[in-house]
Amino acid sequence: MANKHYDINYLQNSRRLLLNLKEHSYTFFEKINSGTIIDLGCGAGNDVIELAKITGKDVKVIGIDHDPVMLKQAKEQSKEVSNVDFILSEAYPLPFEDETISGIRTERVIQHLNNPEQVISEISRILKKDCPLVIIETDWSSLSFYTEFVEAQKKVNAYYTDVKINNGFAAAKLVSYLQQNNFRNIKFEIHPFITDSLKTANELFRIEQMINEAAEKSYIAEQEGRAFYGALQKADDGNYFACAINLVVATCIK
Ligand SMILES: C[S@@+](CC[C@H](N)C(=O)[O-])C[C@H]1O[C@@H](n2cnc3c(N)ncnc32)[C@H](O)[C@@H]1O
Repeated sequence: MANKHYDINYLQNSRRLLLNLKEHSYTFFEKINSGTIIDLGCGAGNDVIELAKITGKDVKVIGIDHDPVMLKQAKEQSKEVSNVDFILSEAYPLPFEDETISGIRTERVIQHLNNPEQVISEISRILKKDCPLVIIETDWSSLSFYTEFVEAQKKVNAYYTDVKINNGFAAAKLVSYLQQNNFRNIKFEIHPFITDSLKTANELFRIEQMINEAAEKSYIAEQEGRAFYGALQKADDGNYFACAINLVVATCIK
């Protein structure tokens, strides 16, 4: 991805909005009472800290990320938590022996990968048999605004899925990635996120920035982009703004 749409500030805002979904994802690890759990692509580390709280002191929760800025923040805010650790690493290869990890969670990371198949196979390599993998992804193709500018919306969605996000259809492909690696008990859930606030849509999807970027790169005519965003503002001012997107959760065991 040429320039990322996320930074620490974005992750904190999106965390607030996705808290219920995040808490749901932790429940798959509640019964693990020893060993190591990994949060792959942990960002600023909040999910690592929350997982450590629910799993207890005999479980080590390790956050992995390739961004040193994220890990600095993660270490800073987890100073008081004893059973966490952070490792600076790419998602492939992962610095663990075969079948040594008791659970893996990865949220909104597979969409950013150039090599998703390789990473899922790497996850399978290090995960112990019968242990859980939980993946959360954003289905960018489902992003919906309710205006008459349907062609503009199609172009902006295509900008997300085909240009901005490396693996823009990750959500749709998750089950196939898992099947290719012989994961078992695969379950797939859709968690719709809806908002009636343009401010919230901008916090979560950077919609204004994306329309501007799409126009700069000629994916949408500047005037069309402006008209589309104008319609979103008008809807917001008139209290009929509506936006929806699906987040998906794939769970399985090795
Ligand atoms: C959208 S953020 C999500 C962060 C966190 N999972 C959360 O939900 O708050 C994606 C994270 O994945 C990390 N990431 C992306 N590609 C990666 C890779 N190839 N190897 C390791 N980390 C990666 C980024 O640095 C970033 O922190």
